[in-house]
Amino acid sequence: MNPSTKQLKWFNSEHAHSALAALDEKSLPQHIAIIMDGNGRWAKRQGKPRLFGHKAGVASVREMIASCVELDIPYLTIYSFSSENWSRPEDEVSGIMKLFVEVLTREIVNLNAQNVRVKLIGDIDALPEKTRLAFAECVQSTAANTGLTLVVALNYGARQDIVSAVKAITSEVHEGDLSSDDVTSELISSRLSTSGIPDPDFMIRTSGETRLSNFLLYETAYTELYFTDTLWPDFNRDALLDALLSFQDRNRRYGGL
Ligand code: IPE
Ligand code: IPE
Ligand code: MG
Repeated sequence: MNPSTKQLKWFNSEHAHSALAALDEKSLPQHIAIIMDGNGRWAKRQGKPRLFGHKAGVASVREMIASCVELDIPYLTIYSFSSENWSRPEDEVSGIMKLFVEVLTREIVNLNAQNVRVKLIGDIDALPEKTRLAFAECVQSTAANTGLTLVVALNYGARQDIVSAVKAITSEVHEGDLSSDDVTSELISSRLSTSGIPDPDFMIRTSGETRLSNFLLYETAYTELYFTDTLWPDFNRDALLDALLSFQDRNRRYGGL
């Protein structure tokens, strides 16, 4: 692609410039989903507590948001906390919850300046009140923005989301508002928390793990997957461009030839 001056300024390494030149604008994904993994190992390598890694990971999130904005990618979904992450030690969980409040309060101005709209998926009601309120404030304050949609998966589990959708559908069938013949894959999609958001066409997982860990199981039927050993706090613009170069070489067959 022929990068704009603004893009060249943002992606400012030599590596980034050659990657940008090799990228085809038309084959960029429209929705990137990221499993941001490896914060704990990153911290451990430096002899620091796990929370240090989570804090460092925030800079990578900021870079991904700005990168998607610069590349005109309309949707970015980030897996921030899974339904299963509650099983971690109490101090790590409460540290993460506090970190959300700090980061959200600080970043609302930047999100608005970048025209980013924040959406939440997951069971928000089960969060500590301060975290829930900080997210509600962020969603409300960015609701009118028209640029990148940043979907934050928080206390999210795909199976739990599918269970809620099935419950909603069965109760509508029970009430007579739907017949079982109305149940299609589109209908199921429309009852998931990701309703209205196109399925991700590209999913990145950092840290060398090659599993989905209960993330967007229904939505990723034909998503291209990308796994890298890089730990989340080290995942930067250059790493994203490498991932995008890999995406554009994929042959998406959808079961055809
Ligand atoms: C991902 O990093 C962040 C969350 C799950 C909240 P981890 O905390 O899972 O880091 P590792 O996988 O233990 O290194
Ligand atoms: C997935 O990472 C969840 C998030 C990135 C928020 P985990 O570190 O929790 O996944 P597992 O336990 O290695 O599968
Ligand atoms: Mg992990």
